[in-house]
Amino acid sequence: MTPTTDTPSEEVANLRELISSDRTGWRKKHCLSLFDVSTAQFNAVLDVAKGLKALDLQRQMAVAWTYPRTLAMIFEKPSLRTRVSFEAGMAHLRGHAINLAANEIGLGTRESVADVANVLSRWVDVIAARVFLHATVEELARTGTVPVINALSDKEHPIQAFADLLTLQEYAGTLGNSLKLTYLGDGNNVLHALLLACAKTGVNISAGCPEGYLPDPVYVEEAERIAQETGAKIEISHDPVAAVREADAVYADVWTSMGQESEKDERGSVFIPYQINETLMSYAKPSAIVLHCLPAHRGEEVTAEIMDRHASVIYEQAENRLHTQKALLMLIIGL
Ligand code: CP
Ligand code: NVA
Repeated sequence: MTPTTDTPSEEVANLRELISSDRTGWRKKHCLSLFDVSTAQFNAVLDVAKGLKALDLQRQMAVAWTYPRTLAMIFEKPSLRTRVSFEAGMAHLRGHAINLAANEIGLGTRESVADVANVLSRWVDVIAARVFLHATVEELARTGTVPVINALSDKEHPIQAFADLLTLQEYAGTLGNSLKLTYLGDGNNVLHALLLACAKTGVNISAGCPEGYLPDPVYVEEAERIAQETGAKIEISHDPVAAVREADAVYADVWTSMGQESEKDERGSVFIPYQINETLMSYAKPSAIVLHCLPAHRGEEVTAEIMDRHASVIYEQAENRLHTQKALLMLIIGL
């Protein structure tokens, strides 16, 4: 018998079931920090993202909402990837995203964070917020009545880590103890999320950061705690060569994060030994990939040559922001 065109394929049926069953308990949950995301929940985002990515490649909308869901995005800082991937992702799912610059709405100045959270909760299904202070996303979550997604705070960039681990999995064919990811540079929001993401997926992570720029010990301790169950190795040092030795993936982020612009000159000199260049890459495995959350500053954290040679993986990593955030929204909202 020939199936009719509206018969869901096995893959689509499995994907719909994975979302609808809510086996990992994502429904209506906030995503503020990977501290609160279980290993099963982390893996569920990757699994749903893979299914949605396959459908996207076929330009299929077999997994989408029948009633248009809405996302409000608040940005206290600039964004390209986060804003566009959320906006495009909501369109793919037959939803709609609304962009709100913090200075337009006056978050915490024109009106209180609680009033913004409560009023938005009456109109939209989810709020995503990029903020200076992590306490602001926590306050939005505590005071509103809809799920809140941290779209980057001073502490953590959890939604970046979903895309990072999906990209690593696609290129290495696996995740787990057989892989070593090296992060070089500032012990910042991106590294904090990566530490927890690698620990949860069993990937060994080695961070090389200058003195005075180590990650928050709270994140290192939590990664070490999770690693006891998953077998991941967590290494933090000031030695970029030791950190990068035999790496399968080498990860860069900017040396000066948004909001730290006044420290740019000082950081520029401290971070030079941590630049991802030909010399440092010669210590990694010959097959090593380079990852970068972007935006990139060629000639600072990564040379133009290395950036260009590894651009296809780095742009795939940016593309994966779309698929992983669609997955997260689907798991939080449901079908
Ligand atoms: N990586 C990332 O979050 O990019 P944007 O700052 O452009 O959103
Ligand atoms: N650490 C960087 C990440 C940019 C996506 C920042 O916070 O600016």
